[in-house]
Amino acid sequence: MKKFIIDADTGSDDAVAILLALQDPQVDVLGITVVSGNVPLQQGIINTLSTIEATEQNIKVYAGAHKPLVRDYIEIHSLSDFTEHVKSLSPVSASAQSVHGIDGMGDIGITSKFSEYEEKNAIDFLVETINKNPDEITLVTLGPLTNIALALEKDPSISTKIKHCYVMGGTSDGTGNVSAAAEFNIWVDPEAAKRVFDSGLKITMVGWDNSYKYAMLKEDEIKKLRALNSKLADFSVDIQKVLINLTKEWYDFYGFDLPDPITMAIALDNSIIEESQDLHVIIDTRDGITRGQTIVDYFNVENKNKNTRVVTKSSNKKFMNMLMDLLS
Ligand code: RIB
Ligand code: CA
Repeated sequence: MKKFIIDADTGSDDAVAILLALQDPQVDVLGITVVSGNVPLQQGIINTLSTIEATEQNIKVYAGAHKPLVRDYIEIHSLSDFTEHVKSLSPVSASAQSVHGIDGMGDIGITSKFSEYEEKNAIDFLVETINKNPDEITLVTLGPLTNIALALEKDPSISTKIKHCYVMGGTSDGTGNVSAAAEFNIWVDPEAAKRVFDSGLKITMVGWDNSYKYAMLKEDEIKKLRALNSKLADFSVDIQKVLINLTKEWYDFYGFDLPDPITMAIALDNSIIEESQDLHVIIDTRDGITRGQTIVDYFNVENKNKNTRVVTKSSNKKFMNMLMDLLS
């Protein structure tokens, strides 16, 4: 069995990524740590619990950071307010409730019978579990990197004890989804991302470019998922309601992209990677129009250590096959 820890800011795409890991028979999910990002921490915990409940499994959930390392964090519910906030170049971070819903799960009334999460906090769980399982744990991060940065601060030695860390974050082609330069997870907490990318941790970065290029589900793909007549497939589509409306508004077609699930899929099956390069990645932590940018040094101009396997192309076919298989 492969030992996984998942760190998430559980919104509607994190939930599908979590389902993939929980449904993979070769994976033992030791715990899910939650961080503020898409939604505030407590809502992320509720969403994580309701996602686990859908699989009828018993997975431990740990509360992590309620805000980024050094930045304040606010809830913003409307897309126009979020856009204005980003354009104002404010140093304050904000939720993505305008993308995933105020509850983060499409605002369709998802509730959970479960309310219990662990007494132990996420940072202690990460440090203790990694030290107890040196070089055995695959860490998959689906939200801002605050929890991981705090765990590295508590025990820097874990950077050499984590088997591999798959990060949904940044982009390999310079595109941004929050601003022209930045992807949301890095933009929320660039200071945390810098600490993680500079820590020596073995990282595979699956940027948002893989999502909009190779994990965009349109009418046909959604019909195939619905045709499974499965609770998990229907749950996975239903909770995208707000994102579907936004996609229609932004791109003028019916569908949604799945950044966290394609990152999880790659962690579960590396053959989904079609092209990648080991490169140095720099995180811009300055406030301004490039805050949160992942600067990929393709020509090694800065002659720095190649700290990251940057995924530049993934297999949409293999990704869709995995979705159909694990959500059936
Ligand atoms: O930019 C996409 C990322 O931001 C995904 O992880 C999504 O869940 C949000 O957290
Ligand atoms: Ca996420």
